[in-house]
Amino acid sequence: MKGSHYFSAQPEARSRPATATLRLPDIEVELLTDSGVFSHGAVDRGSELLLRSVAPPPSGEILDLGCGFGVIALVSALRAPQAHVWAIDVNERALELTAANAARLGATNLTAAHPDDVPGDVRFDAILSNPPVRIGKDALHSLLSRWLARLLAGCTAYLVVQRHLGSDSLAAWLQEHGYNVERVRSRGGYRVLRVHVRP
Ligand SMILES: C[S@@+](CC[C@H](N)C(=O)[O-])C[C@H]1O[C@@H](n2cnc3c(N)ncnc32)[C@H](O)[C@@H]1O
Repeated sequence: MKGSHYFSAQPEARSRPATATLRLPDIEVELLTDSGVFSHGAVDRGSELLLRSVAPPPSGEILDLGCGFGVIALVSALRAPQAHVWAIDVNERALELTAANAARLGATNLTAAHPDDVPGDVRFDAILSNPPVRIGKDALHSLLSRWLARLLAGCTAYLVVQRHLGSDSLAAWLQEHGYNVERVRSRGGYRVLRVHVRP
């Protein structure tokens, strides 16, 4: 994809490295960020709310769909050292930052990969994601359909979405498509949705 969006494969923005600090009750991390990657220089408030609201399963395969510089994937990997975390993104600079952050933090249970490089037989025990709503409704729906289909039966995805960017209509769409959806947190204009695959 060409252009100057944070979801471009190769961002045109000149590199401007900066760090972002995240302090949670259980973990404090300093992360490398860069221009051309979502939330340059600071952890997104929605992603922080997600990480304050939910915990990853202790083991199994976990997916961060649209990892950016990796904050959700990295905190999940540190919280669940027995699990394996897939951090996927179409933005190559984002994947490089995620891999560099994982190396700095010693998170050896994390793989940063392009979506097409996740082996087809991998199934997920959980998805934690701040999804790319700005790619447009149809593209978002097909992206979520693609990855929710790879959740194991009975397992859960947690999505954080801004209310003014369509969290409620996304919840309705998911429900229409057979998922159980519950709002687990609502704060500062963000909603954390729990999306459950029926067993
Ligand atoms: C809202 S940002 C969240 C980034 C990061 N998780 C965070 O919390 O800072 C969404 C991310 O999804 C990525 N993205 C866009 N289209 C994608 C796709 N088709 N597959 C995977 N990731 C995608 C974007 O490049 C962006 O990094």
